Amino acid sequence: MTATPIIEAFFDESTNTISYLVIDPATRLAAVIDPVLDFDLPNGEVDTGSADRILAMAEEKGWRITMVLETHAHADHLSAAPYIKAKTGAQIGIGEHIRDVQKIFRPVFAFDDLKTDGSDFDRLFVDGERFALGTLEVEAMHTPGHTPADLTYRIGDVAFVGDTLFMPDYGSARADFPGGDARQLYRSIRKLLSLPDDTRLFLCHDYKAPDRDDYRWETTVGEQRRASVHVHDGVSEDEFVAMREARDATLAVPKLLLPSIQVNIRGGRFPAADANGVRFLRIPVKIKDGIEQGI
Ligand SMILES: [Fe+2]
Repeated sequence: MTATPIIEAFFDESTNTISYLVIDPATRLAAVIDPVLDFDLPNGEVDTGSADRILAMAEEKGWRITMVLETHAHADHLSAAPYIKAKTGAQIGIGEHIRDVQKIFRPVFAFDDLKTDGSDFDRLFVDGERFALGTLEVEAMHTPGHTPADLTYRIGDVAFVGDTLFMPDYGSARADFPGGDARQLYRSIRKLLSLPDDTRLFLCHDYKAPDRDDYRWETTVGEQRRASVHVHDGVSEDEFVAMREARDATLAVPKLLLPSIQVNIRGGRFPAADANGVRFLRIPVKIKDGIEQGI
């Protein structure tokens, strides 16, 4: 029986992302889950305010950060994992299927220098792998569907589920990114919902449901099974897939999609600088059929 971790949540309203500090009370060793790197797209400007808040709390409390755990390669915010690593020496971990994500996006951005063996990360976790955070035991559970590489990190009766489930009144994550699969997402969610009812689930995002005026990011397996608007008990795989695919067809592209993917598949690093010393991100231009030359 593993001890219960201390958990501190950090909400970034500009990307609706929740990052976590997870601490082993016995040894004061800590992991950061899904840290956000602030990025102002119109200016191309990077800032570390969000990550610095996490580092400051760890410093103040005497917690030593030894790991940065990514639930997946995010498509809506840039990762501050390498910044946290540079400041603390922490190792960066992600699911082994990040290689599949790298293989999908390397040709999309014509990133000839991108390695697709996952070696931009320090640890590649396989499904069911267990590792120590001080005296805590963390289990990596492969929960694909939103992307091929999604992991849930379970520590006893606590699970950090990334983008699989959202609050029960909001539902589930989209499954329409390249490599996403609504059927796989349903199976991953059912795997999570087979954990004991009192398992506490910590989410990576909250967008407030229509009838709610506060942000929330903690729920339980029991609540999801009773009340999830997308996957409560009794919703079949086919019903879920039909709902998910119909809904995904209506969703806008996240505003940081292209920058996020390019940086996050490199372990949170920007591409190397051009000859003028400036780092650039790429926008693949799509020209609609029927538009003649001259563009
Ligand atoms: Fe995501």
